[in-house]
Amino acid sequence: MVPYDLEGKRIVLGVCGGIAAYKSAELLRLLVKQGAEPRVVMTANAVHFVGPMTFEALSGKKVLLDLFSGNDEATIGHIQWAQEADAVIIAPATANFLAKLAHGIADDALSTFMLAVTCPVIICPSMNTNMLNSRPVQRNLETIKKDGHLVVDPCAGELACGTSGPGRLPEPHYIVDYLAGIMAPKDFRGKNILVTAGPTREAIDPVRYISNPSTGKMGFAIARAAERRGANVMLVTGPTALEAPPNVRVTRVETAAQMAEAVLDFMEHADIIIKTAAVSDYRPCSVSERKLKKNERNLELSLERTDDILREVGRRKSGQILVGFAAETHDLESYALKKLEEKNLDIIVANRIGPPDSGFASDTNKAVLFFRNGTKEPLELMSKEKMAHLLLDRIIALQEDRQ
Ligand SMILES: Cc1cc2nc3c(=O)[nH]c(=O)nc-3n(C[C@H](O)[C@H](O)[C@H](O)COP(=O)(O)O)c2cc1C
Repeated sequence: MVPYDLEGKRIVLGVCGGIAAYKSAELLRLLVKQGAEPRVVMTANAVHFVGPMTFEALSGKKVLLDLFSGNDEATIGHIQWAQEADAVIIAPATANFLAKLAHGIADDALSTFMLAVTCPVIICPSMNTNMLNSRPVQRNLETIKKDGHLVVDPCAGELACGTSGPGRLPEPHYIVDYLAGIMAPKDFRGKNILVTAGPTREAIDPVRYISNPSTGKMGFAIARAAERRGANVMLVTGPTALEAPPNVRVTRVETAAQMAEAVLDFMEHADIIIKTAAVSDYRPCSVSERKLKKNERNLELSLERTDDILREVGRRKSGQILVGFAAETHDLESYALKKLEEKNLDIIVANRIGPPDSGFASDTNKAVLFFRNGTKEPLELMSKEKMAHLLLDRIIALQEDRQ
């Protein structure tokens, strides 16, 4: 399997003496959560903002702080860590650090370490807006970019100094996303992928609807993973609370009919179609214009079938790889195999609904993959991000087999 995202990656996090250093602890925590093996280098001034012990507790490793402390870690660490690193993130990068990096000054552990680094470097400047806009800082940023380092632009917003403008450190999850995008293999470059996600809603009256507990997490994880691996991704999603993944075109819909329209419109441009959305099978035959009032009697709703989008996509497809998802409470395998056949799918991912760590809403999933050639692959319990990458691996293998 392609190592998913940051698993096992040696990431060095450089922390400078800026007010946003408090966010570096969360950034480190996210790196650990993604399976990376981070190490931290701090400037002496960073210690005024956050103590090294916080980073040591989160990373489980000694922080590199002082070149001349006399311990072996520091004496050779700055060179060894530079040679071993898969990527370096400097967050926050102070104006002072930018000046040193732009001019090759090596007067402490972090600046010396930086001169020995050969892997990708992501610089995240953060400072007061006037400092950021000052000519020396802008000049130094230009030099740093010309030297081949990646610079993540600071966000605009309220700053600790009481002013408002560009200079804020982007949220840690954004920086991790950016890093993961750089580290991922680009095996989907040039491919168009259509992903559907989330539930649909079928109105009963202006305040009530029929829906299901899908949160869209699986589809969003696939969209994000495919984008990181170089694909052009179109995500059609029902109502969810999730933020759109970076660089993914998102179309938000409510009903099964709107989802059908968006999917059928886009499908001819897609090389791969992955349908994770939990589309309502039924909708009310008529929608009340006014809120239905309760009365003493039972309320009977008359329901009609919605369009079977997957069946229609399967019927129309011409060369695309089509992947469907099946969520079942029982007879998982027989239902999944029937759907694979009937909907003309290449792969079906069958989830069991019921266990709390699998299916709707959870961050993990347990599934069995069934392939058109009759093989099946039971998967262990894993995060939805990991499952997304594994599914993409299987799709790439299918495409290679076809060529
Ligand atoms: C309270 C406080 C907050 C600061 N915040 C920032 C900041 O956000 N960005 C920055 O570039 N400098 C900031 N500075 C200035 C740096 O700490 C100072 O330039 C220092 O020399 C940076 O050292 P370093 O780059 O070795 O960490 C701040 C200083 C203080 C006292």
